[in-house]
Amino acid sequence: MIKIVPSILSADFANLGRDIKRVEDAGADMLHIDVMDGHFVPNITIGVPVVKSVRKVTRLPLNVHLMIAEPEKYVEPFARAGSDIIVFHIEVTDRPEDLIAGIRELGVKPGISVNPETGLDRIWGILDKLDMVLVMFVHPGFAGQALMHEIVWKVKELRKRAPEDFDIEVDGGINEKTISEIAGAGANVFVAGTAIFGSPDTAAAIRTLRQKAEEAFEARPQKA
Ligand code: DX5
Ligand code: ZN
Repeated sequence: MIKIVPSILSADFANLGRDIKRVEDAGADMLHIDVMDGHFVPNITIGVPVVKSVRKVTRLPLNVHLMIAEPEKYVEPFARAGSDIIVFHIEVTDRPEDLIAGIRELGVKPGISVNPETGLDRIWGILDKLDMVLVMFVHPGFAGQALMHEIVWKVKELRKRAPEDFDIEVDGGINEKTISEIAGAGANVFVAGTAIFGSPDTAAAIRTLRQKAEEAFEARPQKA
């Protein structure tokens, strides 16, 4: 149930194929691809052509995280480029159900992400339509930021109310020091950029993150 998901934002883009092979060989469960548009977040990163190229060099599922305005315009090209899960932000749409349905029609799993300052109220009514909720533990835009511990309640609340095997993904500031607290709250899918690509030993980094997450996830207080 625990998945360790390297974010390629912290890879070396001049050697992206090499870095992807490295995390794949090291036991990563999925790849996280951060798409930023310079509007919804103050940074510009990866677009459709990169996803298409990445699709050709890995068998890992591709978890595309759209940090963009007007995601409805772009889900189709990202789906056709080979995404397995497309996550959009709840802050940028009034019609999440339509977007979820559109993503499913393209044969892709839909997920929704929530920024640190966004509550979960709008999530509850659509939880059963989603494959994943992505809880941001930093303000989206950049790798290497410190995890905001005050967000942990969202993970607890989601784990309490979601079906047993629901994927709760967490993103931002996840490392060997922070992962146990978040796994202990009930998260099971862990995005990590700096903690994996910034480590001299990729396999050891993934192994340690997985071990700590598994321990804390197993030890967490169970639902009554
Ligand atoms: C931040 C991105 C994250 C980022 C995580 O806006 O959504 O996926 O790459 O990087 P770290 O793990 O370094 O916080
Ligand atoms: Zn992300």
